[in-house]
Amino acid sequence: MRRGAIVQLVVLAALISAAVTAIAVFIPWLPVQASEQRERIDFVFWFTTAICIFIFAVVASVSVYAGVKFRAKPDDDSDGKPTHGHTRLEIIWTVVPLVLVIAISVVSAVALAQNERLPSNHLKVDVTAQQFAWSFSYPGRGDLSTGELHLPVDVPVEFRFEARDVLHSFWVPQFGQKQDAVPVAERKNRTRLVVTPTRVGTYPIICTELCGLGHALMRANVVVERPAAFRRWMRERRGAQGGGGTARLAGRAVYEQNGCGGCHVFGPAGSAGRVGPSLDRLEAEARRANRGSLAAFTRESIVNVGAYIEPGYQNVMPNTFGQLPKDQLDALVDYLVQGARKGG
Ligand code: CUA
Repeated sequence: MRRGAIVQLVVLAALISAAVTAIAVFIPWLPVQASEQRERIDFVFWFTTAICIFIFAVVASVSVYAGVKFRAKPDDDSDGKPTHGHTRLEIIWTVVPLVLVIAISVVSAVALAQNERLPSNHLKVDVTAQQFAWSFSYPGRGDLSTGELHLPVDVPVEFRFEARDVLHSFWVPQFGQKQDAVPVAERKNRTRLVVTPTRVGTYPIICTELCGLGHALMRANVVVERPAAFRRWMRERRGAQGGGGTARLAGRAVYEQNGCGGCHVFGPAGSAGRVGPSLDRLEAEARRANRGSLAAFTRESIVNVGAYIEPGYQNVMPNTFGQLPKDQLDALVDYLVQGARKGG
């Protein structure tokens, strides 16, 4: 009788855990793995999930068995028999979860410690977050700075984060980790993150901290490529940004580094942000605003953001762009004016 009950419970538990395991394994819940750190995080995830499936199977099978076996008959209004505690059972259901929770914390601690490990031959990338765009620079590599992140595959990267205005949070789902970008007075207090990309491809960079009206659009791309392609990209970018480039290219670089495209449509830059007014209509808007020449209007709109607000928009543009170095600001204004004229 007793043995029969145990056999039934074990069969029930096996069926339930098989069904839940199938749901866990055969539905692709997670994005593709594209970093070494993600592999460790996924290991912790599946380790914890396996424990959860085991606990669920035990609880669900006992519940189903008890519900079927000890159901009161429809006309049975009598009280149940009084029961007392069962010391051995209570010790088991205290010790088993304790061991499981300790196991999860040990496995997590090991994975986290390994994920923070950084070999000496790594790449450094400084990440600047601001409403509502990301920009990336490569210290020690000619101060190259860009709005699209490029990384060589299989090279460990140390990201250091900084925010210009409010909290933002850096997340590439395929890399598996998040890190806050915090406005800090001292650069040495920047938050950091170690990522070793393992898979060539283009992945989204998503801001996961509600940071204002354009939060949902605060996205960029990370391109993971073979080291040779990465070096070629660096050379090309440096050429475009450095002294060899024309003012137009420099202006475009300023536009991209400062994430203008995150909020504005601008044909010449191929940007399609929808938070702020379209810069393709800059000329028409300058006429309507009637605040001096096109260049003067453009400069004022960058430096003194609240001076004129296009009807239908709110004043959400960050007022940090007035701090741009003069040559960058000049190049940006030039680039916008030329592009707006050409676009008509
Ligand atoms: Cu930045 Cu949300």
